[in-house]
Amino acid sequence: ERGWVNILVIGSGGREHAIIWKLKQSKVVKKIFCIPGNGGISQMAECTEMDILDFAKISEFVKDYDLGLTIVGPEVPLAKGIVDYFQKKNLRIFGPNKKAAQLEGSKVFAKQFMKRYNIPTAEFEVFDNPDDALSYFSTLNSKLSTVVKADGLASGKGVFVCDTKKDAEIVVKKIMVDKIFGSSGNKIIIEEKLEGEETSLIAFCDGKTILPLIPSQDHKRVFDDDKGPNTGGMGAYSPAKFIDTNDVKKIWDNFLEGIKKEALDYRGIIYAGIMQTKDGIKVLEFNVRFGDPETQAILPLMKTDLLDLFTATVDEKLDKCKVACKNGYCVSVLVASGGYPGKYEIKKEIFGLNDVKDAVVFHAGTKFKAGRYYTNGGRVLNVSAVDITLEKTISKVYKNIKKIKFEGMHYRRDIGRKGLKSS
Ligand code: AMP
Ligand code: GLY
Repeated sequence: ERGWVNILVIGSGGREHAIIWKLKQSKVVKKIFCIPGNGGISQMAECTEMDILDFAKISEFVKDYDLGLTIVGPEVPLAKGIVDYFQKKNLRIFGPNKKAAQLEGSKVFAKQFMKRYNIPTAEFEVFDNPDDALSYFSTLNSKLSTVVKADGLASGKGVFVCDTKKDAEIVVKKIMVDKIFGSSGNKIIIEEKLEGEETSLIAFCDGKTILPLIPSQDHKRVFDDDKGPNTGGMGAYSPAKFIDTNDVKKIWDNFLEGIKKEALDYRGIIYAGIMQTKDGIKVLEFNVRFGDPETQAILPLMKTDLLDLFTATVDEKLDKCKVACKNGYCVSVLVASGGYPGKYEIKKEIFGLNDVKDAVVFHAGTKFKAGRYYTNGGRVLNVSAVDITLEKTISKVYKNIKKIKFEGMHYRRDIGRKGLKSS
């Protein structure tokens, strides 16, 4: 093996597979471990089944195997304080600490932070009991669209765009009275509905410097032309067509000012989900981690050593770094199990993965057993291709997906098409 540092990656999705795939190209990385990983990850990292919230056990594992850095994929361990736990034990870890992770873990915290630091966002009100929320609606026009959001983490399901007052009232009751998200629904936000194209702005942040990656666009609805229910993301492309860069600079400048003023330990990824409205760019949400599936459409274009960026972030040296990218585009299409995002079946054998030639397959819900791959989740594979024009990239990715087969599989046929329309 070439490198000298062993790494731990926490997570089990296409995002983590893409991070590991990219870290494998680093001259510095020796061996990669993953908790818990998936079928595809098991082919390039040593996977161990472990509860990703059992910080004591994970930190023992890190010590036993002398792992020089831990990268956290999903938000829940960050929001629950894995970074604070590791820091107390003098273990190097990439990600914001618990207090800073509230930017994703509490929508109330995030919105109030945006307001304090002049980061443009939808107008909003906070409520901590259903009666106040419901009487607020009586002050609104009954046809006014609103967005109701549970304060805490809800696996991406806590946001409801409501087109009538009646719908909004039903949602408030579900969240605050029926507690469908448990204590994540102790508070809610009611905000104005915005219209426009959404873009994901993902950046490294060491508390002093923001280093943006290329903009990307997710596709949240299950069917073509953004029809059907929401999913965890059906595909992404990058760079997404975009934007007044001055507005973006202002968002990041104000964000950093807030991080410094509030002395937040923010050394990780910051992700701003933005909407390009007719009144300019507005931030819909912050996430404190890489996007999934955006990462699968960003890292294949990146030339810079990913470990260098992780290290510089932890050491607060991002001001010395640049991100170099290949020319062209990356399109990443998610292949899902039959029935997803509703009830779906697993344990279907996946065929044709070896026939994929000029694209890379990042696994999400898969299992490797006796030389074969099987489905093991709703989101199964992300197929990512790179080429010089967006047209060519789209046809390359779909040509490769046709080689993959499993019972019930489905995917969107229009990932990246929005980028064509506007260019
Ligand atoms: P969030 O978790 O806040 O990003 O919300 C998830 C999704 O809900 C976003 O990606 C948007 O598609 C939608 N959304 C959130 N807030 C608004 C808003 N104020 N207006 C319209 N759509 C929204
Ligand atoms: N792609 C949306 C997310 O990662 O939250």
